[in-house]
Amino acid sequence: MPAHIVVGMQWGDEGKGRIVDWLSGKADIAARYAGGDNAGHTVRVGDETFKLHLVPSGVLYPNVKCVMGAGMVINPITLIRELNGLAERGIDISPERIHLSPRAHLITSAHRALDAARESQRGESAIGTTMRGIGPAYVDKTAREGVRVGEMVNLDRLADHVRERIEAANRTLTDQYHVEPVGVNSAVDELCKAAAFLTPYLADVSLEVYEALQAGKTVLCEGAQGTLLDLDHGGYPFVTSSSTLAGGALTGLGIGPHHVDRVIGVGKAFTTRVGSGPMPTELQDALGNELRGTGENPWDEYGTTTGRPRRTGWLDAVILRYAARVNGLTEMMITKLDILSGFEELKIATEYTVNGQTVRHMPSELNEFAVAQPIYETMPGWLDDIVDVREFNALPSAAQHYVERVEALAGVPVRLISVGPAREQSIEKKL
Ligand code: GDP
Ligand code: IMO
Ligand code: MG
Repeated sequence: MPAHIVVGMQWGDEGKGRIVDWLSGKADIAARYAGGDNAGHTVRVGDETFKLHLVPSGVLYPNVKCVMGAGMVINPITLIRELNGLAERGIDISPERIHLSPRAHLITSAHRALDAARESQRGESAIGTTMRGIGPAYVDKTAREGVRVGEMVNLDRLADHVRERIEAANRTLTDQYHVEPVGVNSAVDELCKAAAFLTPYLADVSLEVYEALQAGKTVLCEGAQGTLLDLDHGGYPFVTSSSTLAGGALTGLGIGPHHVDRVIGVGKAFTTRVGSGPMPTELQDALGNELRGTGENPWDEYGTTTGRPRRTGWLDAVILRYAARVNGLTEMMITKLDILSGFEELKIATEYTVNGQTVRHMPSELNEFAVAQPIYETMPGWLDDIVDVREFNALPSAAQHYVERVEALAGVPVRLISVGPAREQSIEKKL
């Protein structure tokens, strides 16, 4: 009855999608548990690249069922677009294999407009959100005023509730932010049309996952975003509005902790961040540009959802240790090791200096994290290309040492290393 949870260890975009795809070969259900279409998960199979925002990354394995849990916020328009896009590429999107929790919340055009208005008012201190309406949708949920996916079964009630919520949002948009209101009728029509498409997908996801676990099936819980974007334990306020940690999988799907046997942290071999907020190991120089890439390769560091260039820097082991702790990681999977080929030397932050003190643990206060200076350990790099390596022992010895050092610093064994975006560019490492 195992549930495996996959979480990002840094600021998102660690390669969770490709890891979930890889693990899906042995799974029965892939389940997204939090966030919405702020996520962008890339999976490459053969020559084809899939960018998934809401549908779990297990969808490319025909026998894997895909569910979206109660902890999510769903933009029905992007979900329909994504499902249709998958269908056009020959993927089975039938309601027999894809299920959506009626308890998840809906994102409306008013949430997106509020997201933009709030960001614009924040000015210099903007969070750099994805503008997908994520924060405002979770605000409505927490205020117990949100529209839930399950309301789509009754179009009259849905229309009334959506109209009431859009009108309320419009008062805020015009009176508080002095921006244009959103069209009420068009927003209501849009959601009612979407309801006709999506209602066949509604199912009790918590029950479905529970019954699968009871029957001995394997459920893969796919995290979105990353540890440092968690609403409670990330670098607040530069976070997303959901529970991105392993704990979020339990509440987001409605399952108990005893089902979980693996908590898999996905960590990029260096650090990236998109959006504002402190990032101690950021490199704003030629090395940072080299890590980012020019944008010519599909895997270069430009956002999957927004196309924004990602901030880049050396690996930060303080963050990895923190992720290991707050998620209770049983293992780690390292992605994009190939990108480090060609650097003469590599650095890993092992500790910080904060206001003259050496600290080993992630500061819990943002004002301390904001002034944290990384203390680096320098390691020899390797020059050989490693994209075709499939065995750990066949990696250059400096690359093996780098991985082993990460294991020691994070305190978690590394189980998989990826050396390219494709499914087969994976190296299993014995525990
Ligand atoms: P996610 O949000 O965590 O699923 O990650 P994204 O899909 O947003 O970003 C990861 C990017 O890195 C995507 O373009 C992937 O195709 C790419 N990628 C994943 N693993 C590797 C790898 O090992 N090497 C290279 N070069 N690219 C990778
Ligand atoms: P995946 O699942 C990277 C960041 C945004 C912003 C902050 C808040 O692909 O790893 P939001 O729109 O959620 O209110 O934005 O969170 N962010 C992500 N960064 N990867 C993501 O998802 C992200 N989802 C949100 O850039 O800093
Ligand atoms: Mg992403």
